[in-house]
Amino acid sequence: MSVQNTAVVGAGTMGNGIAHVFALHRYDVVLIDLDEALLEDARGTIERNLSRQVDKEVITPDEKAAALGRIALASDTAKGVQSADLVVEAVPEEQSIKADVFRTLDEHTPGEAILASNTSSISITWIADQTERPDQVVGMHFFNPVPVMTLVEVVRGQRTSDATFDTVADVAEDLEKNPVEVEDYPGFVSNRVLMPMINEAIFCVMQGVAEPEDIDTVMELGMNHPMGPLTLADFIGLDVCLQILEVLHDELGEDKYRPCPLLRRKVTAGQLGRKTGKGFFEYE
Ligand code: 3HC
Repeated sequence: MSVQNTAVVGAGTMGNGIAHVFALHRYDVVLIDLDEALLEDARGTIERNLSRQVDKEVITPDEKAAALGRIALASDTAKGVQSADLVVEAVPEEQSIKADVFRTLDEHTPGEAILASNTSSISITWIADQTERPDQVVGMHFFNPVPVMTLVEVVRGQRTSDATFDTVADVAEDLEKNPVEVEDYPGFVSNRVLMPMINEAIFCVMQGVAEPEDIDTVMELGMNHPMGPLTLADFIGLDVCLQILEVLHDELGEDKYRPCPLLRRKVTAGQLGRKTGKGFFEYE
C-alpha cells in the first residue's frame, strides 16, 4: 500500500516530533489535538527544531519551509483523519483514552488506512481489539527526540498482517529510521531493557550507594551512554517511567520489575523531571 497522507493524533513531545519527521520526508501530515493551545505550541516547537536542523546544516531553509507547509493542524479527530493512509496515535498512556481514539479512527478513516500506535507499554493486540480492523493495527514506537533518534520499534500485534507490518517498516525506512521488528510483549525490547536499568539507578540513590551526579557519571564515562540513567529518567518523565515499570511488573509478574519506592515518592510529590523543573536534578 502506498502512503502519502498521514495524521498524528496527540501534539505532545512525541506527536510533534513524529509530525516533524513525516513532513520533512515529504508526507502530508495533519497534526491533531483537542487542545488548540497545545497545537499552536506544537507548531512552534516543530518550527524551532527545524531551525536547529537548518543551523546545523542538516537541512536547507527551503526544506524547512516545505516541511512546515505540509503540516496542517486540526482539533477535530474525525475530520482530521478522513483522508489518511496512515495514522500514528501518540496520546497519553491510558487505556480508556487509547480505546476512544482507536474507535474514532476506525470509524472515520478510509477502510484501507493503517492505524499505528506510538505506545511505549500498552498491548498492540489489545489496542487492535478496539477496532474492526485488527490486521491493520500495528505499533510504531519512536524515541525522543524523534528528529534525532534513528530507531523505530515496529510492533506486531497478535493479528497484525504482514502487509501492514511491511508498509509501516517501509515508511520508517523512508523517514531515515531503522525499523526493528518486535513482538507484542510488555515494554517491547526498548523499555523492557531500559527501565530496569533506570529503576536500579534509582535504588542506588535510595540506598545511598552514590550521589545522583556520580551514578550518571559512572554510566556516561564507564559505559559511554550519552545521558546517565537519572538524567534520562528526568528527560523521559518520572511518571512515564513509573507507569511503564508498573506495566512490566503487573504483566510479567516478576519482582525484578517492582518500581523503586523513591520513584513513587517523587511522582507523588509532582517531581516528574524536566517537564516540572525538578526530578533527580533541577532545570531552569
Ligand atoms: N530536534 C532536532 N534536532 C535536535 C533535537 C530536536 N528535538 N534535539 C537535539 N537535536 C540535535 C541537536 O541540534 C544536535 O545536533 P548535532 O549533532 O548536529 O550538533 C544533536 O541533536 C545533539 O543535541 P545537543 O548538542 O543539544 O545535545 P546532546 O549532544 O547532549 O544530545 C540527545 C542530546 C540527542 C538528547 C542525547 O543526549 C541523547 O541521545 N540522549 C539519549 C536520548 C534517549 O535515550 N532517548 C530515548 C528515550 S526513551 C524513549 O523515548 C522511549 C519511550 O517509550 C520512553
